[in-house]
Amino acid sequence: MSDIIEDIEVRLLLEALYRRYHYDFRDYAQASIRRRLRQARQQLGFPNFSAMQEQLLHDETMLPRLLGYLTVQVSEMFRDPAYFRAIREKVVPHLRTYPSLKIWVAGCSGGEEVYSLAILFREEGLEDRTIFYATDINQDALETASRGIYALDRLKTFTENHRLSGGKSSLSDYYTTAYGNAVFDKSLRERVVFSDHSLVTDAVFAEMHLISCRNVLIYFNRDLQDRAIGLFRESLVRSGFLGLGSKENLRFSSHADGFADFVRSEKIYQRREG
Ligand SMILES: C[S@@+](CC[C@H](N)C(=O)[O-])C[C@H]1O[C@@H](n2cnc3c(N)ncnc32)[C@H](O)[C@@H]1O
Repeated sequence: MSDIIEDIEVRLLLEALYRRYHYDFRDYAQASIRRRLRQARQQLGFPNFSAMQEQLLHDETMLPRLLGYLTVQVSEMFRDPAYFRAIREKVVPHLRTYPSLKIWVAGCSGGEEVYSLAILFREEGLEDRTIFYATDINQDALETASRGIYALDRLKTFTENHRLSGGKSSLSDYYTTAYGNAVFDKSLRERVVFSDHSLVTDAVFAEMHLISCRNVLIYFNRDLQDRAIGLFRESLVRSGFLGLGSKENLRFSSHADGFADFVRSEKIYQRREG
């Protein structure tokens, strides 16, 4: 297929996805979107993107299948333990000064990150005063997150990450095992609100003390990254924290002046006053 035709077809497909279902991938980083769409086309057996577009417009069951390809669902509990160690050692002492806390995990995937924070906050004695918001655009991921059940063979990594993050308890205190799975204690999600929210098309979440958004902005183009960072700035209390993790940063954002470096290596920022 010539590059020009593929370019036209991909743009039309993303436009159809937006107009029909309001999922907006038009400004995601193009190279990775195209790679994923090619994979979807091959595996779902379509001769070209126009045929995929037709099916998408007329058959709603195509939507979750396509979203499965367009969104990357890779996560781990306490992924990049140094990030969680920095939250524990540097951010938590500030959070302790607030009587109540709101924490937003944006792009929560299957919930691994929000359960990690819930465990960390319990270990630090902050859980009772905290509400966590865990958001994503992928419904299947949100359902997985709200179940809190993970394959047992992932627990070795989760346990090691938890230990390296400075965990003060044993991860096994928080789950029971059944049929090859680890079932996380439902008390961990009693203070978590899971919801469908897009960083591309939806509005601010008010008065957050910490926003953690890791491994999400890498899939956006510059303009979209900027929109999301503006959204985060508006959603934070003064002196609130934004954690982007080591792979992303604010350097090129028009909102960079609104934040100060807090833990440089982990790209944790603090909203400036005003
Ligand atoms: C690679 S996962 C990151 C999971 C977790 N934050 C971590 O670092 O382990 C990326 C997540 O971003 C979500 N995502 C993609 N576009 C999004 C958007 N516009 N708004 C909110 N979440 C989005 C995907 O569905 C996916 O669950």
